[in-house]
Amino acid sequence: MASDLIAPSILSADFARLGEEVDNVLAAGADIVHFDVMDNHYVPNLTIGPLVCEALRKHGVTAPIDVHLMVKPVDRIIPDFAAAGATYITFHPEASEHIDRTLQLIRGEGCKSGLVFNPATPLSYLDYVMDKVDMILLMSVNPGFGGQSFIPATFEKLRQARRMIDASGFDIRLEIDGGVKADNIAEVKAAGADTFVSGSGIFGKGKDSDPHRYDSIIREMRAAMAG
Ligand code: DX5
Ligand code: ZN
Repeated sequence: MASDLIAPSILSADFARLGEEVDNVLAAGADIVHFDVMDNHYVPNLTIGPLVCEALRKHGVTAPIDVHLMVKPVDRIIPDFAAAGATYITFHPEASEHIDRTLQLIRGEGCKSGLVFNPATPLSYLDYVMDKVDMILLMSVNPGFGGQSFIPATFEKLRQARRMIDASGFDIRLEIDGGVKADNIAEVKAAGADTFVSGSGIFGKGKDSDPHRYDSIIREMRAAMAG
């Protein structure tokens, strides 16, 4: 199985000091930057777009940027994110008119592609596109906000997705997003995830983030996963 990646969601970072926050969390041992894009249409919240992704690259961020698109329509924003330096681009199948075409568009732009599954979205969307995904992202909360509680039914869904990936023989990451913290990350890993998004679990709530704590939280997460 692939190595474990910790992906802080910058949704919970202090946006007024975003470059510094990303530097701090990467210096504390995070592996990739989870970048939540919300459009106030597909989800009831509005966040950041390609300009901010580009600004992080210009700031000097070299770590992979994992762009989670919660937008509808999807396709027209993909080239902009590719040009802005996205590494992964994932989208929700319900938000695309032509899922196979969108997956091909992402890879065609030179990025890694992925599908995102809301808590009630079936994994059967993967049936004919396993060869076109580099990442499967399971939402363990309904998308739109940080700081929600992990929905327990996701554990069984993770096990199902892990079986599908292993049976496919393809090199596909299994990412989990929503309510992941140091106290449940071991259970999430045991169910099959290898890529762990955590927003409030790392940055804290209500913009009370303390960069001195990032190091100890990420260490605590890795220790929990090591058992
Ligand atoms: C929710 C976003 C998540 C969110 C996770 O729609 O996709 O990435 O920031 O935040 P926490 O870890 O606080 O649940
Ligand atoms: Zn996300």
